[in-house]
Formats: sequence, structure tokens, C-alpha cells
Amino acid sequence: MREAAHGHGMRIHSSDNCDNFMNKKRLLLFLWCLSAAFSALADEGMWLPSLIGRQVDDMKAKGFRLTAVDIYSVNQASLKDAVVLFGRGCTGELVSPEGLLLTNHHCGYGQIQSHSSLQHDYLTDGFWAMSREEELPNPGLTVSFLVRMEDVTDRVLAGVKDDMDETRRQKKIAANIEREKERALKEYKGQKGYEVSVESLYYGNQYFLFLFRTYGDVRLVGAPPSAIGKFGGDTDNWMWPRHTGDFSVFRIYADADNQPADYSPDNVPYRPRHWFPVSTAGMDEGDFTFVYGCPGSTREYVTSDHVARVMVSNPNKIRMRTERLDIINAAMAADPAVRIKYASKAANIANAWKKWQGESLGLERLGTLGKKRAYEERFARWAAGQPEYAGVLERLRSAYEAGNGASYAADFYTEGIFSIELMSLANYVTVALEAGEMPVVPGLFYKDYEPEIDRQVACALVREFAEHVPAVFMPDGFAEGLAEAGGVEEYVGRLFDRSALADSARLAALTALPRKEAVAALTADPAVEFYAMFADTYRQRISPVLEEADRTLAREYRTYMRGQMEFEPERNFYPDANLTLRVAYGAVEGYNPEDGVRHLPVTTLEGIIAKDNPDIYDYDVPDALRRCYEEKDYGRWAVNVGTEEEPYYTVPVAFLATNHTTGGNSGSPVLNGDGELVGINFDRTWLSTMSDLEFDPAMCRNISVDIRYVLFVIEKIGGAGYLIDEMTLR
Ligand code: ARG
Ligand code: GLU
Repeated sequence: MREAAHGHGMRIHSSDNCDNFMNKKRLLLFLWCLSAAFSALADEGMWLPSLIGRQVDDMKAKGFRLTAVDIYSVNQASLKDAVVLFGRGCTGELVSPEGLLLTNHHCGYGQIQSHSSLQHDYLTDGFWAMSREEELPNPGLTVSFLVRMEDVTDRVLAGVKDDMDETRRQKKIAANIEREKERALKEYKGQKGYEVSVESLYYGNQYFLFLFRTYGDVRLVGAPPSAIGKFGGDTDNWMWPRHTGDFSVFRIYADADNQPADYSPDNVPYRPRHWFPVSTAGMDEGDFTFVYGCPGSTREYVTSDHVARVMVSNPNKIRMRTERLDIINAAMAADPAVRIKYASKAANIANAWKKWQGESLGLERLGTLGKKRAYEERFARWAAGQPEYAGVLERLRSAYEAGNGASYAADFYTEGIFSIELMSLANYVTVALEAGEMPVVPGLFYKDYEPEIDRQVACALVREFAEHVPAVFMPDGFAEGLAEAGGVEEYVGRLFDRSALADSARLAALTALPRKEAVAALTADPAVEFYAMFADTYRQRISPVLEEADRTLAREYRTYMRGQMEFEPERNFYPDANLTLRVAYGAVEGYNPEDGVRHLPVTTLEGIIAKDNPDIYDYDVPDALRRCYEEKDYGRWAVNVGTEEEPYYTVPVAFLATNHTTGGNSGSPVLNGDGELVGINFDRTWLSTMSDLEFDPAMCRNISVDIRYVLFVIEKIGGAGYLIDEMTLR
């Protein structure tokens, strides 16, 4: 039974495709089916915790030793009570009865950075609170626990008629949702921290209500030096083998009654309903794991036209980012001061840049476009006789066709013109002026700003825009302005020479003028005018087309999703990720990145030392870690990778598993079959990033930092072993 439920994705692809290959290449068939069989442990899917009962038999068959109620329960403490949405887009987990929380270093990065100064450079040196008093408050940082979730589809769709037009329908739904939220919150009137959201699942076919409790006093307890927490930097980002100690430690505080409270020195450590025991036993290839966290966004059920759009969009976005990165990286390499200013910006640009490259390669390799087309042909044949579904694919196609041009152009706005730093400044000034306020000179922006770099980036991006965007989507007068200036260099040069925004002193002088003059000068500033020209065109010619197409897509996908579920009644559809709490499960497993190459699923300290190079920023191992290695000072975290007669001790660092994860799963607890913490999720391999559109069991792997490395760093590098005493070690 479970097989049927679970073999789903595989069956659709494998049986049909194996037949097709049969006549052509027996070897291919053999490899194909072999890889399908080999990856029997690999699991596609991100499941709703409250419905996990449907998966539990399958999970148990693979090594899960708890029950559905252990994962999610409203009435008793369950694993969900130890998982939080951390900040705006990460996950964190509780590991002690005193509110101690683990997440990624890259999730706590903003907080670590904001506490850093020249005197206390916590990014470089790490930070360890040696007592509760030394833990650092973080205004604005929140964590949210899921109190309960509830299927509210019937109530959200009450009064919604099939023949309603989309706008009326959405209005009705929005009103129903408001009522549901009020109803849910009523129970908790007068109590702090309750928040509620209603999210659509399966493209508007189902609605779930999520009730959260949010805590706003979350303090920084510890962070390793970046040379551990970000070891490998952008060079290793999305890669395997990996050696990043990507973790940081926080503590949640509450009032004396354990209720959410704003920061106060009188607050006390939060006492969770559940915290994860930590397993120090380690994982072997094949061992069951599951990930409990908040995946952000996937699109598994879209049509081939969506994939086609991604395959056009990715290369354009990648190319524009390559040009930016080439300019920024060259400037960073030439000047250490510039390196510091642009390190974080470059990291941000490079993150999605690399992910998109992997995604495109993956889609290409899997033939996702062709598979989807074949699926759509079968669906269309099935749907032909059914009034509810006949024609839905054509309507989806027309909506894509209607939006494709604008969507293509939009990339050259968002990844192009609007990615010029001067334009984000112009946007800031424009928003202030529109609100009737005088913009304050943004010191933080200028602290990390090099107008010369930005000018070069602007040249590259304006050139991209001019070369690729069809005239209908270009601002009026842009082409003429360019021609009149005599070329991109001159055009952009004038902009940067004449705008006061490119220089903080000039902007400060402007804003100091009498108000009327200041407003006039700012409004007429070339950068502000340039920004307005593009922003207006976007608002007038791109947004309306995209919004109209999106409305149609929303309507038709609702039908298509329902259709797919009827078309394949035995397939177990999981809802696309939308930052709601999910469980993914799989096993520790390596993979073959290419023919003849096998990647093992675990890395160790040996690999860190092998990469050590004081001359390369990303690989400059901290002295404290080098010393531990030289003295083999691993304490209780040593594992023997030699033999019994000839032991060789090292420390495990990271591991791969087949769990289906995506952005937002960063910081998620990685658990063994007993629900004990064995790692913290922080990445995927770049060649598996197409799993947001198609999961490939043979290739898709999530990357976690081994909890034993986390504990080793806390104790041996941080000297904060007292934190481990709070945890429950098994
Ligand atoms: N690739 C990971 C994620 O998508 C980690 C990003 C942070 N690390 C970095 N080196 N930029 O978010
Ligand atoms: N690093 C990602 C995050 O911040 C997780 C990697 C991924 O699976 O996309 O959520």
C-alpha cells in the first residue's frame, strides 16, 4: 500500500520512460531503472505535520521509531514544540529546557554582524556568552512556535460559487479568511504573542489555518568565527564535499510566567514544551533521517510553460549576475578595504547565481520540459471528455503566452536596472519624498558603497537592458538618451557625475538646503529621474500585464491541480512549500555527481585541514582549530576512522541525506529515527536545486552540519562547554 502511495513520482516517470528507451538503448534502460531502484530510500515530499499519519507507515518501514502523535499533537508535547520559524525565513530548534536554540550561522549573520564593531569583531573572532548576563538582545528578532494547524477549507470557501468571477471570488475568500483569523484569536484574547495566518495549499483548493505563538526576546548566545561558520565561503556554497560549521546559538526569553514578552532584563529563559535530545552516536550511510522545518517555496505541479520560462529567465539572470560579480570580485581582490565592504553583497549575489546555474543544469539533465509536455499530453487526453478539465492546459498556455514578454523584460528591470546600487538609493529618496519627508543620509549605505564599482556595474546592466529589452517595454526616451549621450559609458558616466546621490557629502549638502529647494533639487536629481523613468514604465507596462496573467494562472492552476489529483488518484500529492511547517524524510546517502564519480555522505576535520590556506580568505582555518588538529585535542567528539588495531581519530563535520528541502529549511533540525538531533540543515548541493521544480532521487541531497562538530566547536573552540551541560545528550 505504502509503496503505491510512495512510489508515485517514480512510477509516472520510470515505467513510461523505460518503455520508450527499450527500443533504443538497453544500457540506458538498465541504468535508469537501476538508479530508480538504488534510490529507493530517497524521498520526495514535504509533508504537513498534522497529516503525517498518512506517511508514518512508510517512515517506519525506513527507520522511524516514533508515532505521528510524537511529531504533531495539540494536546500533548510533541516535536513541533521544539521547532521555530526563526526570523523571517529560517528555522531553529530548541535543545535545552532553558530555551537554548540552534540555527545556522548564516541565519544569525545579521545579528552577529550588528553586535560587531572594530573592538568586538564577532564575525571574525566568534562570540560566546560566558554567562546569562553576557547574552546579547536582538531587537526585531522573533521566533514563532506553531500552536496548532487546522483545515479551514470549508469555511474559507463558504459562499464561493464556481461561476463567480475571480475578483469577487478573491474578495469573498479574503473576507472569510479575516473572519477565521478573528475566530481563532478570540480564544486567546488578552494573551501576548498569538498570531494567525491562513495559507492556501494546492493552488487554492485547500486552506489551512496556522496559529503561532511569537516570542520577541531572543538573545545571541554564541557564534563560531566566520572562518568556521562560513568556512569555504561562496567557493564552497552549494557544494559537496563541504566543511562549514554553519551554526549559531540563541536563547529565547519569556516573562516570569513563561509568556512572550518584549525585551526586559527581568525576563527569564523560556521553558519549552519539548526540546530535542542530542544524539552523539553518529550516522551511517543508509540511516533514516527526517527534517522538521519551514521550506519556503517550491513549484512541483506547474506546466511545461512555467519550466520553459525558468529556462529562459535563469540564463539572463545568471549572465547579469556574472557581470556584476566579475566587477565586484576584481575590485575586492585588488583592495582589502573593498573586500570588507562588498563581502556580504557579493555573497548575496552569488548565492542565487549559483543556485540558478544548478537548477538549469538539473532541468536540462532531467529533461523536465519534455517530461512535463508528455505528461500534459496524457492529461489532455484524459481531460478531453470532462467539462471541468478540458481546455485547462490551453488556458494556462494562453496565460503564459500573454505574460511571457513582460516576464522576460521584468528580469532586466529587477536583475538589471534596479540592481544598480544607486537605484536602490534613488528608490529610498523617492519613497521619502512621496511621504513628504526629507530623506536622512543613509550612513550604513555609504559605509559600504564604492561609486566606481557601482558605475561599472551600471554600465554592464544598462547595456544588458538596451540590448535585450523590446522597445515596447523600454521607457520612452531611453533609447534616444543613450544615442544622444554617444553610448552606454557616456550615458552612465553623466548619471554618476551629475547625481548628488553618488556621493554622501553632496547628498548631505542637498538635504541641508531649505526644504523647498531641497525637495526641488532632489526631485530633479539625475539618479532620481532615471529611477522614476524606469519605475514608472515598469508600473505602467509590465506590472499590469503580469498581474493580469497571474490572476488567470491562479484560477487555472486551481483547476489543473485538482485535475492532476483526479487524473492520478493513487499518487500521494504533497502541497508545494509555502514557509509553513513541514516534515521531509529520507536517509543519509552519497550520490554520483557524474559518471564514475561517487560522493561519500560524510566529511571530517581532515578535509578542513586539507583545504587550509592562510592566503585564501575562504579557507583560512582559525589557529584554535589548527591547534586542536595538531594536538588531536578532540575530547569526547573524536571518532575512530581507522581500524581497531590502528585507530585514527578525527571529528565528523557534515553529512548528506536525501531529504527534500529548500530555502527556508536553513537551520532545520535533522533528526534520527528516535527524534534525536543529529545535525542542522544548511544547504543543498547545487546540482539538486531543480528539486524546487522536479525532485531527482538519484541526485538531490540536503547538506547538514553534524551535531558532533557543533558540540566540538562550542566546547573546544568557544570554551563554552557549559552550554552542552544544559542539553540532553544521548
Ligand atoms: N546556500 C545556502 C542557502 O541558500 C547558504 C547561503 C549562505 N552562505 C554563503 N556562503 N553565501 O541559503
Ligand atoms: N541555505 C538555504 C537556506 O537558507 C537552504 C538551502 C536550500 O536548500 O535551498 O534556507
